[in-house]
Amino acid sequence: MSGFFVVFEGGDGVGKTTQIDRLAQAMRGDREVVVTREPGGTPLGQQLRQAIMHGDHVAPRAEALLYAADRAHHIATKVRPALERGAVVVQDRYIDSSIVYQGGARGLGEEVERISTWGTEGLLPDLTVLLDMEPGEGRLDRELDRVERETGEYKALIRQAFLDLARREPERYVVIDAAQSIDAVAGHVREAVNVALGAKGLPGVAGGNLAVEPWGTP
Ligand code: TYD
Repeated sequence: MSGFFVVFEGGDGVGKTTQIDRLAQAMRGDREVVVTREPGGTPLGQQLRQAIMHGDHVAPRAEALLYAADRAHHIATKVRPALERGAVVVQDRYIDSSIVYQGGARGLGEEVERISTWGTEGLLPDLTVLLDMEPGEGRLDRELDRVERETGEYKALIRQAFLDLARREPERYVVIDAAQSIDAVAGHVREAVNVALGAKGLPGVAGGNLAVEPWGTP
């Protein structure tokens, strides 16, 4: 496959959407860039997303299967065809989100990864960008109540689970400190994407989204 597949992962609120937009903008030009997400990257996926997120309680195993169904359809009908055309696919969340949220946080274990791997016929990203941020970093100056503490602990668990995945396969991941400025994060993303593009013999991302002075050079 001649395309390039880059996935963004991380906890909620780390700025994935902004960074995906920035990268897509920088990469557009003479190549096709497809921006997509899970769950919900296809019409069927939109329905599954509604079912997962806005319905009544969903049994954990059913939820895991719904995410996997969304993914299987998304990869087969949108992502693989795009990669086969030679496009760049920039995607918000993939299998790692299932491993972390359903496998880890919901306690369903390793089978979750196997189900998604089966569903996608083993498609792996060329690069996974993990936007990492300490939950609630430096923003609270009072003691947390029980619910807040639990929420904080949950977020810390999610964060650690993503970091563990990145550590497992460092050559396929880049971990970026998402507490930096938007421009700084975008610059690091672009550097990592350029390294991964180069490894595949593809041209790098020129110009674009580094911290350029807004007034430019005279
Ligand atoms: P979304 O509104 O897309 O937010 P975000 O910007 O954080 O991606 O919500 C996606 C939610 O779905 C997020 O809380 C993580 C969850 N999720 C899973 O639990 N498992 C999965 O496999 C995926 C793809 C997402």
